[in-house]
Amino acid sequence: MKDLTHPQNAPVVILLGPPGAGKGTQARMLEEKFGLVQLSTGDLLRAAVAAGTEAGRKAKAVMEAGDLVSDDIVLAILTDRLAEPDCATGVVLDGFPRTTGQAEALDKLLSERGQAVTTAISLEVDDVKMVVRITGRFTCGSCGEGYHKDFKPTKVAGICDMCGGTDMKQRADDNAQTVMSRLDAYHAQTAPLLRYYGEQDVLQKIDAMGPIDSVARELSTIARQLTV
Ligand code: AP5
Repeated sequence: MKDLTHPQNAPVVILLGPPGAGKGTQARMLEEKFGLVQLSTGDLLRAAVAAGTEAGRKAKAVMEAGDLVSDDIVLAILTDRLAEPDCATGVVLDGFPRTTGQAEALDKLLSERGQAVTTAISLEVDDVKMVVRITGRFTCGSCGEGYHKDFKPTKVAGICDMCGGTDMKQRADDNAQTVMSRLDAYHAQTAPLLRYYGEQDVLQKIDAMGPIDSVARELSTIARQLTV
Protein backbone atom coordinates (compact mmCIF):
# COMPACT_ATOMS: atom_id res chain seq x y z
CA MET A 1 0.00 0.00 0.00
CA LYS A 2 1.45 3.39 -1.00
CA ASP A 3 1.96 6.05 1.67
CA LEU A 4 -0.28 8.69 0.07
CA THR A 5 0.70 11.26 2.68
CA HIS A 6 4.10 11.49 0.97
CA PRO A 7 3.67 14.26 -1.66
CA GLN A 8 5.39 12.28 -4.42
CA ASN A 9 2.92 9.42 -3.99
CA ALA A 10 -0.19 11.60 -3.85
CA PRO A 11 -1.97 11.10 -7.18
CA VAL A 12 -2.76 14.12 -9.35
CA VAL A 13 -5.38 12.92 -11.82
CA ILE A 14 -6.70 15.18 -14.58
CA LEU A 15 -10.03 14.49 -16.28
CA LEU A 16 -10.19 16.02 -19.75
CA GLY A 17 -13.23 16.15 -21.99
CA PRO A 18 -15.79 18.50 -23.52
CA PRO A 19 -18.86 19.73 -21.63
CA GLY A 20 -21.06 16.78 -20.77
CA ALA A 21 -18.29 14.18 -21.09
CA GLY A 22 -18.88 13.17 -17.47
CA LYS A 23 -15.93 14.86 -15.73
CA GLY A 24 -17.98 16.00 -12.72
CA THR A 25 -19.94 12.75 -12.44
CA GLN A 26 -16.80 10.62 -12.52
CA ALA A 27 -14.70 12.98 -10.35
CA ARG A 28 -17.33 12.65 -7.60
CA MET A 29 -17.16 8.85 -7.97
CA LEU A 30 -13.34 8.93 -7.66
CA GLU A 31 -13.65 11.10 -4.55
CA GLU A 32 -16.18 8.77 -2.91
CA LYS A 33 -14.44 5.49 -3.81
CA PHE A 34 -10.76 6.42 -3.71
CA GLY A 35 -10.59 9.53 -1.52
CA LEU A 36 -9.18 11.73 -4.29
CA VAL A 37 -10.39 15.26 -3.61
CA GLN A 38 -12.47 16.63 -6.50
CA LEU A 39 -11.23 20.05 -7.60
CA SER A 40 -13.69 21.50 -10.09
CA THR A 41 -12.75 24.96 -11.36
CA GLY A 42 -16.32 25.27 -12.69
CA ASP A 43 -17.70 24.71 -9.15
CA LEU A 44 -15.10 27.05 -7.61
CA LEU A 45 -15.97 29.77 -10.12
CA ARG A 46 -19.74 29.29 -9.62
CA ALA A 47 -19.17 29.62 -5.85
CA ALA A 48 -17.23 32.86 -6.47
CA VAL A 49 -20.08 34.17 -8.66
CA ALA A 50 -22.66 33.28 -5.99
CA ALA A 51 -20.54 34.93 -3.28
CA GLY A 52 -20.15 38.07 -5.41
CA THR A 53 -16.36 38.19 -5.00
CA GLU A 54 -14.29 40.31 -7.40
CA ALA A 55 -13.22 37.17 -9.30
CA GLY A 56 -16.85 36.03 -9.43
CA ARG A 57 -18.04 39.36 -10.83
CA LYS A 58 -15.42 39.19 -13.58
CA ALA A 59 -16.20 35.54 -14.37
CA LYS A 60 -20.03 35.73 -14.46
CA ALA A 61 -20.65 37.10 -17.96
CA VAL A 62 -17.79 35.07 -19.46
CA MET A 63 -19.27 31.83 -18.10
CA GLU A 64 -22.78 32.70 -19.24
CA ALA A 65 -21.43 33.22 -22.77
CA GLY A 66 -19.69 29.82 -22.68
CA ASP A 67 -16.20 31.31 -23.01
CA LEU A 68 -13.17 30.56 -20.85
CA VAL A 69 -12.44 32.68 -17.81
CA SER A 70 -8.95 34.25 -17.89
CA ASP A 71 -6.02 32.12 -16.77
CA ASP A 72 -5.02 34.51 -13.98
CA ILE A 73 -8.44 34.30 -12.25
CA VAL A 74 -8.66 30.52 -12.59
CA LEU A 75 -5.07 29.97 -11.46
CA ALA A 76 -5.51 32.13 -8.37
CA ILE A 77 -8.63 30.19 -7.34
CA LEU A 78 -7.10 26.79 -8.07
CA THR A 79 -3.77 27.55 -6.34
CA ASP A 80 -5.55 28.58 -3.13
CA ARG A 81 -7.71 25.46 -3.13
CA LEU A 82 -4.81 23.11 -3.90
CA ALA A 83 -2.90 24.48 -0.90
CA GLU A 84 -5.62 23.32 1.52
CA PRO A 85 -4.60 20.35 3.70
CA ASP A 86 -7.27 17.93 2.40
CA CYS A 87 -5.62 18.01 -1.06
CA ALA A 88 -2.32 16.64 0.25
CA THR A 89 -3.18 12.98 -0.30
CA GLY A 90 -4.41 13.20 -3.88
CA VAL A 91 -6.69 15.17 -6.15
CA VAL A 92 -8.79 14.73 -9.26
CA LEU A 93 -8.88 17.88 -11.36
CA ASP A 94 -12.22 18.35 -13.11
CA GLY A 95 -12.23 21.12 -15.72
CA PHE A 96 -8.63 22.19 -15.13
CA PRO A 97 -6.31 22.75 -16.91
CA ARG A 98 -8.12 24.07 -19.96
CA THR A 99 -5.37 25.96 -21.76
CA THR A 100 -1.70 25.30 -22.40
CA GLY A 101 -0.89 28.25 -20.10
CA GLN A 102 -2.86 26.60 -17.27
CA ALA A 103 -1.15 23.24 -17.90
CA GLU A 104 2.29 24.83 -17.75
CA ALA A 105 1.38 26.73 -14.57
CA LEU A 106 0.11 23.49 -13.00
CA ASP A 107 3.38 21.69 -13.83
CA LYS A 108 5.32 24.51 -12.18
CA LEU A 109 3.09 24.53 -9.10
CA LEU A 110 3.36 20.78 -8.69
CA SER A 111 7.11 20.66 -9.23
CA GLU A 112 7.54 23.20 -6.41
CA ARG A 113 5.81 20.62 -4.19
CA GLY A 114 7.88 17.68 -5.47
CA GLN A 115 4.92 16.43 -7.50
CA ALA A 116 3.91 15.94 -11.13
CA VAL A 117 0.75 15.04 -13.02
CA THR A 118 0.20 11.32 -12.47
CA THR A 119 -2.23 10.78 -15.33
CA ALA A 120 -4.44 12.83 -17.64
CA ILE A 121 -7.50 10.86 -18.69
CA SER A 122 -9.40 11.97 -21.76
CA LEU A 123 -13.11 11.07 -21.69
CA GLU A 124 -13.75 10.47 -25.37
CA VAL A 125 -17.28 11.37 -26.50
CA ASP A 126 -19.33 12.36 -29.50
CA ASP A 127 -20.00 16.14 -29.36
CA VAL A 128 -23.47 15.86 -30.90
CA LYS A 129 -24.71 13.74 -27.98
CA MET A 130 -23.36 16.21 -25.40
CA VAL A 131 -26.15 18.70 -26.03
CA VAL A 132 -28.70 16.17 -24.73
CA ARG A 133 -26.56 15.40 -21.69
CA ILE A 134 -26.11 19.09 -20.82
CA THR A 135 -29.64 20.29 -21.39
CA GLY A 136 -31.06 17.38 -19.33
CA ARG A 137 -28.76 17.92 -16.36
CA PHE A 138 -29.96 19.14 -12.97
CA THR A 139 -28.36 19.27 -9.54
CA CYS A 140 -29.58 19.11 -5.97
CA GLY A 141 -29.22 22.62 -4.53
CA SER A 142 -28.74 21.20 -1.02
CA CYS A 143 -25.99 18.57 -1.45
CA GLY A 144 -24.79 19.14 -5.03
CA GLU A 145 -25.59 15.63 -6.30
CA GLY A 146 -25.88 15.68 -10.09
CA TYR A 147 -28.70 14.07 -12.10
CA HIS A 148 -29.98 13.76 -15.64
CA LYS A 149 -33.66 13.65 -16.58
CA ASP A 150 -33.18 10.51 -18.73
CA PHE A 151 -29.77 9.00 -17.87
CA LYS A 152 -29.72 9.49 -14.09
CA PRO A 153 -33.16 10.47 -12.82
CA THR A 154 -33.97 10.72 -9.10
CA LYS A 155 -35.76 7.63 -7.72
CA VAL A 156 -38.70 9.82 -6.65
CA ALA A 157 -39.44 12.77 -8.94
CA GLY A 158 -38.13 16.05 -7.52
CA ILE A 159 -36.49 14.50 -4.43
CA CYS A 160 -32.73 14.05 -4.11
CA ASP A 161 -31.73 10.39 -3.56
CA MET A 162 -28.79 11.44 -1.41
CA CYS A 163 -30.19 14.05 1.01
CA GLY A 164 -33.95 14.24 0.41
CA GLY A 165 -33.61 17.86 -0.77
CA THR A 166 -36.23 19.22 -3.15
CA ASP A 167 -34.44 22.34 -4.43
CA MET A 168 -33.30 21.14 -7.87
CA LYS A 169 -31.23 23.58 -9.92
CA GLN A 170 -30.21 24.00 -13.55
CA ARG A 171 -26.99 25.83 -14.39
CA ALA A 172 -27.28 29.22 -16.10
CA ASP A 173 -24.96 28.02 -18.90
CA ASP A 174 -26.80 24.74 -19.55
CA ASN A 175 -28.75 25.75 -22.64
CA ALA A 176 -28.30 24.53 -26.21
CA GLN A 177 -26.83 27.80 -27.47
CA THR A 178 -24.17 28.16 -24.76
CA VAL A 179 -23.24 24.49 -25.07
CA MET A 180 -22.16 25.12 -28.67
CA SER A 181 -19.84 27.95 -27.51
CA ARG A 182 -18.45 25.70 -24.74
CA LEU A 183 -17.79 22.91 -27.26
CA ASP A 184 -16.01 25.40 -29.54
CA ALA A 185 -13.90 26.64 -26.61
CA TYR A 186 -13.00 23.04 -25.76
CA HIS A 187 -11.79 22.21 -29.26
CA ALA A 188 -9.92 25.49 -29.76
CA GLN A 189 -8.25 25.84 -26.37
CA THR A 190 -8.40 22.57 -24.41
CA ALA A 191 -8.07 19.76 -26.97
CA PRO A 192 -4.41 20.76 -27.65
CA LEU A 193 -3.71 19.48 -24.12
CA LEU A 194 -4.16 15.91 -25.41
CA ARG A 195 -0.93 16.38 -27.31
CA TYR A 196 0.70 18.18 -24.35
CA TYR A 197 0.04 15.24 -22.00
CA GLY A 198 0.74 12.71 -24.74
CA GLU A 199 4.22 14.15 -25.05
CA GLN A 200 4.64 13.83 -21.26
CA ASP A 201 3.59 10.18 -21.61
CA VAL A 202 0.80 10.49 -19.00
CA LEU A 203 -2.23 10.51 -21.33
CA GLN A 204 -4.87 7.76 -21.25
CA LYS A 205 -8.04 7.77 -23.36
CA ILE A 206 -11.25 6.02 -22.44
CA ASP A 207 -14.53 5.67 -24.29
CA ALA A 208 -17.04 7.71 -22.27
CA MET A 209 -20.10 7.16 -24.49
CA GLY A 210 -21.28 4.11 -22.52
CA PRO A 211 -23.50 4.21 -19.42
CA ILE A 212 -22.22 6.06 -16.33
CA ASP A 213 -21.49 2.80 -14.46
CA SER A 214 -19.37 1.29 -17.20
CA VAL A 215 -17.26 4.47 -17.53
CA ALA A 216 -16.90 4.40 -13.72
CA ARG A 217 -15.63 0.80 -13.85
CA GLU A 218 -12.91 1.69 -16.37
CA LEU A 219 -11.83 4.72 -14.34
CA SER A 220 -11.83 2.68 -11.13
CA THR A 221 -9.39 0.21 -12.67
CA ILE A 222 -7.01 3.09 -13.39
CA ALA A 223 -7.53 4.72 -9.97
CA ARG A 224 -6.94 1.44 -8.10
CA GLN A 225 -3.46 1.19 -9.61
CA LEU A 226 -2.67 4.72 -8.43
CA THR A 227 -3.87 4.36 -4.86
CA VAL A 228 -2.66 0.87 -3.79
P1 AP5 B 1 -17.43 23.44 -15.98
O1 AP5 B 1 -18.32 23.53 -14.81
O2 AP5 B 1 -16.13 22.79 -15.86
O3 AP5 B 1 -18.29 22.83 -17.16
P2 AP5 B 1 -17.89 21.97 -18.45
O4 AP5 B 1 -16.46 21.69 -18.68
O5 AP5 B 1 -18.60 22.65 -19.56
O6 AP5 B 1 -18.34 20.59 -18.09
P3 AP5 B 1 -19.72 20.19 -17.52
O7 AP5 B 1 -19.78 20.40 -16.05
O8 AP5 B 1 -20.81 20.84 -18.32
O9 AP5 B 1 -19.73 18.68 -17.93
P4 AP5 B 1 -19.09 17.41 -17.24
O10 AP5 B 1 -18.08 16.83 -18.16
O11 AP5 B 1 -18.65 17.69 -15.82
O12 AP5 B 1 -20.36 16.47 -17.26
P5 AP5 B 1 -21.28 15.92 -16.08
O13 AP5 B 1 -20.53 14.87 -15.33
O14 AP5 B 1 -21.89 17.01 -15.27
O15 AP5 B 1 -17.15 24.92 -16.56
C1 AP5 B 1 -18.20 25.85 -16.73
C2 AP5 B 1 -17.60 27.18 -17.17
O16 AP5 B 1 -16.70 27.68 -16.16
C3 AP5 B 1 -16.76 27.13 -18.45
O17 AP5 B 1 -17.56 27.23 -19.61
C4 AP5 B 1 -15.83 28.33 -18.24
O18 AP5 B 1 -16.49 29.54 -18.52
C5 AP5 B 1 -15.56 28.30 -16.74
N1 AP5 B 1 -14.35 27.49 -16.39
C6 AP5 B 1 -14.32 26.36 -15.64
N2 AP5 B 1 -13.06 25.90 -15.52
C7 AP5 B 1 -12.28 26.77 -16.21
C8 AP5 B 1 -10.88 26.83 -16.48
N3 AP5 B 1 -10.03 25.89 -16.01
N4 AP5 B 1 -10.43 27.85 -17.25
C9 AP5 B 1 -11.27 28.81 -17.73
N5 AP5 B 1 -12.60 28.81 -17.52
C10 AP5 B 1 -13.11 27.80 -16.77
O19 AP5 B 1 -22.39 15.20 -16.96
C11 AP5 B 1 -23.34 15.97 -17.70
C12 AP5 B 1 -24.72 15.29 -17.64
O20 AP5 B 1 -24.64 14.04 -18.31
C13 AP5 B 1 -25.18 14.97 -16.21
O21 AP5 B 1 -26.56 15.17 -16.14
C14 AP5 B 1 -24.84 13.49 -16.02
O22 AP5 B 1 -25.75 12.84 -15.15
C15 AP5 B 1 -24.93 12.95 -17.44
N6 AP5 B 1 -23.91 11.93 -17.74
C16 AP5 B 1 -22.61 11.90 -17.33
N7 AP5 B 1 -21.98 10.82 -17.83
C17 AP5 B 1 -22.90 10.15 -18.57
C18 AP5 B 1 -22.88 8.94 -19.33
N8 AP5 B 1 -21.76 8.19 -19.43
N9 AP5 B 1 -24.02 8.56 -19.95
C19 AP5 B 1 -25.16 9.31 -19.86
N10 AP5 B 1 -25.26 10.45 -19.14
C20 AP5 B 1 -24.13 10.87 -18.52
